[in-house]
Amino acid sequence: MASDARSALRSRVSVRLEATAGALGSTAADLLLIPCCEGESTLPGDAKPLSKPLAPLLADRLERGEFTGKANQLSLAEPRGVASAKRLLLVGLGKRTAVTAETIRQAMGKAAGQIKMLGVAHIATPLFGPGLGALTPSAAAQAQAEGLLLGLYDFNLYKTEAKPPVKSLTRATWVTSDKRLLPIVQGALEWGSIVADAAMLARDLGNHPSNIATPSNIAELARTLAAELKLRCTVMERAEMERLGMWALVGVARGSQEPPKLIMLEYKGGRAGEPPIALVGKTITFDTGGISLKPSENMEQMKDDMSGGAAVLAAIQAAARLKLPVNVIGFLPATENMPSGTAQKPGDIVKTLSGLTIEVINTDAEGRLILADALTYAARVKPKWLIDIATLTGACGVALGKHAIGLIGTAPKLVAALKEAGEATGERTWEMPLWEPYYDQIKSNVADVQNVGGRYGGVITAGAFLSKFVGDTPWAHLDIASTAWIDEPRPYTPKGVTGVGARLLIEFLSRQRGGGKAPPRSGKRASAGPKKRPRAKR
Ligand code: BES
Ligand code: MN
Ligand code: ZN
Repeated sequence: MASDARSALRSRVSVRLEATAGALGSTAADLLLIPCCEGESTLPGDAKPLSKPLAPLLADRLERGEFTGKANQLSLAEPRGVASAKRLLLVGLGKRTAVTAETIRQAMGKAAGQIKMLGVAHIATPLFGPGLGALTPSAAAQAQAEGLLLGLYDFNLYKTEAKPPVKSLTRATWVTSDKRLLPIVQGALEWGSIVADAAMLARDLGNHPSNIATPSNIAELARTLAAELKLRCTVMERAEMERLGMWALVGVARGSQEPPKLIMLEYKGGRAGEPPIALVGKTITFDTGGISLKPSENMEQMKDDMSGGAAVLAAIQAAARLKLPVNVIGFLPATENMPSGTAQKPGDIVKTLSGLTIEVINTDAEGRLILADALTYAARVKPKWLIDIATLTGACGVALGKHAIGLIGTAPKLVAALKEAGEATGERTWEMPLWEPYYDQIKSNVADVQNVGGRYGGVITAGAFLSKFVGDTPWAHLDIASTAWIDEPRPYTPKGVTGVGARLLIEFLSRQRGGGKAPPRSGKRASAGPKKRPRAKR
């Protein structure tokens, strides 16, 4: 079992998404999804023709208070001659004018939960829109695909028990009455499924335990991705880190039997010579705290301390599959943080690649140590933007709770772009200040800087620490410590690892216009240019 998982490190929801023109009522499927808006008898989007035939049923459910169309509400029904599908599933979208992509992802995710329970193999759904909020048909279709696929996700690679003999969903058909929309919808479905696949890769990586998702195995996966997608992958070993002087990264790895890796994955979709976007992801495959050992309660959750690195790998996979016209390089400093006779100790001083020295007051503040060297190294490629993403501080949960990613940066345009991408994906960010007085908290008596900043403003002092290692490079930092793991399921996210950051980074990259169009690729495939994001005027 373990070796199976090791060779894969990824599970897959495999559902064929297709678009067809026709009438919803006569579409054959095991289940037909019917979107409804609160307080309206007219059904939205391509469900509209069913408004009349379904009116008695809807009125009845409304009267009993069983189904009002409130967001994320579900209700099963018999088709009773209204539709050819075997069952109907009503799904609420709330008020029509308030519908966003996130509303749709959540409704589809909720529906996916029900679909999974019923063991349905083929569903049909109308295109939710146009006419919902400000959404274009393609935005609606993309959100539908993402919500459905992400809502179907389960991590069960290690369950050997036979599963209940239910069928799982293999096919989903989008039905639209407007033939001209077909290519747009099909393109949006494909886009959405690439995005969902990436987020699920990030979830898988976080969910795999640390005995499987080791630095070496993650490096192996990066090499596999590179081979599949024609990317360049380089893995730096400990000897090279030492030769270069990355003693902060090497210092964290000292307690572990697993060799550290600095994994680099490069996708070139932009012009040759165009500065890349550098993405640095914290990849601590397990964080015990080191000699500053963590308490044992909930320590198992520290297998997800590589969620930043997972988001970076996932985003690069998606960038390549979407053929985005950008150059991107991912950097994953990967190691365990373990206590042992060889582990670094509180009070140790390490020299970094940048030349600055760090006093390690607390070995549990290890993320910023490995990022210090990785950021300095990444800055050497002279990126247009430098972004790091990390499960960095417990303080992030205290400050922002579990619904916002902490955001700190030195480049207002970059920060603004990350905010926008967060709004669009539902992976929202909230900016914190990087003011000068915070730097006083990380002054060391004996070295250039110390790795902890005391009790107050932990997200910010961690960000201030990182900023010392990026030089003049326009940089932003994303703290996903409080959003990478949830204890209560959400509409399209089961409890456990969320894969947060993957969709945010993909959306950010897809909004980059770079210096121009990518050149036509050489080689056999004439269609190998960048994928155009499907967008209809309305
Ligand atoms: N990986 C943790 C941060 C974390 C904590 C993520 C809880 C998810 C849930 C990080 O390495 C860490 O231990 N940070 C310390 C820093 C402190 C010692 C300054 C923390 O937040 O307690
Ligand atoms: Mn730690
Ligand atoms: Zn950590």
